[in-house]
Amino acid sequence: MQMIDKNIEDYCIAKSNLPSVDCDRIEEYTRAHVHGARMLIGKMEASFIGFLLRSIGAKRVLELGTFTGYSALTMAENLPDDGEILTVDINEATVLLAKEFWKQSSHGYKITSLMGSGLDIIPTLKAPFDFVFIDADKRNYINYLKLTAPLLSPTGIIVIDNVLWDGKVLPDADLDVSEHRDRNTEFIRLVNDYIANEPSLYGTLLPIRDGIFLVRKY
Ligand SMILES: C[S@@+](CC[C@H](N)C(=O)[O-])C[C@H]1O[C@@H](n2cnc3c(N)ncnc32)[C@H](O)[C@@H]1O
Repeated sequence: MQMIDKNIEDYCIAKSNLPSVDCDRIEEYTRAHVHGARMLIGKMEASFIGFLLRSIGAKRVLELGTFTGYSALTMAENLPDDGEILTVDINEATVLLAKEFWKQSSHGYKITSLMGSGLDIIPTLKAPFDFVFIDADKRNYINYLKLTAPLLSPTGIIVIDNVLWDGKVLPDADLDVSEHRDRNTEFIRLVNDYIANEPSLYGTLLPIRDGIFLVRKY
């Protein structure tokens, strides 16, 4: 589902600061050659996340869901020279691609890939993080939120991707439980409801791309 009229979104993209040509190269390659390219965050969301990173002066970022390295590189471009991104994924093939692309960018040195499942890796990490981007493994969204919230710096932000799930999170949405994608709906509803009802968190859900939840400590 396209949440925002395509012409409107194209206009917004045309007027926004965008990821570099190095990121465009990852996007184009992924769309042409990699299964699941629709998972890429795309230019609009990348620009918005870049704005957030710059606004809070983020230095340390944790990403769950590296894929082919697009979102990590777009974030690296919006960190200072001594900024760092730790990015976690379980898929060696796509991470190998990501590393090849990062090598070609002058910001690639800021990115460290950690192989393994988010649930295993997060407890091994040293706090604090200024920014956490949750974009992997919908089943564990709620656990990733609960595990990373205590790791946030005082002005830190967590961004959770795909929280509108093509509109399937709406109470009256038509779901087909034989579809893997539809079965993930309940996990996304769970995390959305948790944030909405958790007094220690301040959340704003925005209809950018497939929906993003901005979360910080209240
Ligand atoms: C939506 S994609 C990430 C897209 C990426 N953030 C971007 O926009 O360029 C999700 C990624 O999560 C990874 N993933 C799935 N299960 C995972 C897990 N348990 N722990 C870490 N990563 C996982 C997948 O291999 C996939 O590459």
